[in-house]
Amino acid sequence: MQDNKDLNDTWELYGVNENPFSTSPILVVGGSIPLDSFVGRSEHITRLSRILGSRGGSRTFIYGDIGIGKTSFVNVVRSSAIQKGFFTHFKEITTQDKWSADDFVLNTLSAIYSTLKLLKERPVSKETYEKLESLFEIGKTSISGGISVAGFGGSYASQQKATEVLASFSLQNFFSEIITEINGNTSKEVIIHYNNLELISEKKIRNLFDTLRDFFQTKGVHFVFIGNLTAYSILQSVPRFSSILSDTPFHIETLSFDEVKEVIKKRFEGLRISEKLNLIYPYTDNCLKILYNLMDGNIRDTLNSLSTAVFHATTESPILLDKNKLARVLNEILEKRYLNTLTPKEKEVLGEIIKHKEITNKSLSDKLKIPRSNISTYVKDLESAGCVFLRRKNGKDKFWKADPKVKWSLLKEDAQQALPF
Ligand SMILES: Nc1ncnc2c1ncn2[C@@H]1O[C@H](COP(=O)(O)OP(=O)(O)O)[C@@H](O)[C@H]1O
Ligand SMILES: [Mg+2]
Repeated sequence: MQDNKDLNDTWELYGVNENPFSTSPILVVGGSIPLDSFVGRSEHITRLSRILGSRGGSRTFIYGDIGIGKTSFVNVVRSSAIQKGFFTHFKEITTQDKWSADDFVLNTLSAIYSTLKLLKERPVSKETYEKLESLFEIGKTSISGGISVAGFGGSYASQQKATEVLASFSLQNFFSEIITEINGNTSKEVIIHYNNLELISEKKIRNLFDTLRDFFQTKGVHFVFIGNLTAYSILQSVPRFSSILSDTPFHIETLSFDEVKEVIKKRFEGLRISEKLNLIYPYTDNCLKILYNLMDGNIRDTLNSLSTAVFHATTESPILLDKNKLARVLNEILEKRYLNTLTPKEKEVLGEIIKHKEITNKSLSDKLKIPRSNISTYVKDLESAGCVFLRRKNGKDKFWKADPKVKWSLLKEDAQQALPF
């Protein structure tokens, strides 16, 4: 693709093969971000490793803000578990609101199957593997990519074979059969990782954990659930869930400035084109510090800002972002891509939203002396322009938050040096 080519050309100017500011999580296997660029969280790693190393299975809930490093943390721990002989599916399972309990189990099986498919030596019998194959490889449509297939009595229509498989034994039994086999062949337990629990609504969560209580207690399996702060508050109120947890939830917090700095250094080293070439860092320490503080220590938002600024400002030769250049570049992008379509009223509302960690329509209306119904229209427009998002809901109250990139408007150039555009 032409676009990708251009993109890589940009990073080559800095002596690296790929974008060192990529916001993708570290993967269990493969992926462009080097595994050894993972920094910190040693206490959490020890604690989770201990849980996964204990016999009998477990259920652990890990939560924290968006983009803080939850998925990467669990992937790094799973990756080292694989080194120790554990079986775990490679790609984390992203839960979806539309999933029924059967879909939940099916997608778990599918994740296991996708990984087995890649393995040259499979820790399951030929028959078991073929059973899985017949469940997921029907015709040409596979369920990979997270599309769920219907469960029992579902609309499996022309898929005769699958119906037979599904009808001959329950999905949950099949799951525990597979686990028993893997446990036997690896002498280790199995780790299952569900990502982004917040994508499931509160009502659905209650239902799921009622129906799947036994499933989550399957012997020989360690279940790891990840969610953001919304998922945490929902799950707090679902005793069915809290009561099956093996330990208190893990709270993942922001990395320190020095840790973020180290992450980027390690990524540059890991993505280095050749030992014979220099690495060119396109930012000053001060510039990184400014971004880190602006983004309240959120690593994904910090990386995303750097990635956008460097990519946008680089043409023929490498650049160096300092405080002024950073402010100029990011404000220009923000203006051009997002703010220029907004009306003055919408800008006024956005200006207020950005001052708060989160704010409701009612507070906005009080503060700005604009009627509630107008506020609601402005906020909706701001939402579709990608400038604000719904952080959480409490009953009828919606709490809005400015998109992190809107904070770029708070970056200011030093007055004397400001260059006119
Ligand atoms: N401890 C860490 N060490 C190195 N990189 C990290 C660390 N935590 C997060 N990252 C990087 O920060 C970005 C966001 O992390 P991610 O795991 O996707 O966060 P979350 O799952 O909480 O939204 C990713 O690009 C990831 O590679
Ligand atoms: Mg994640």
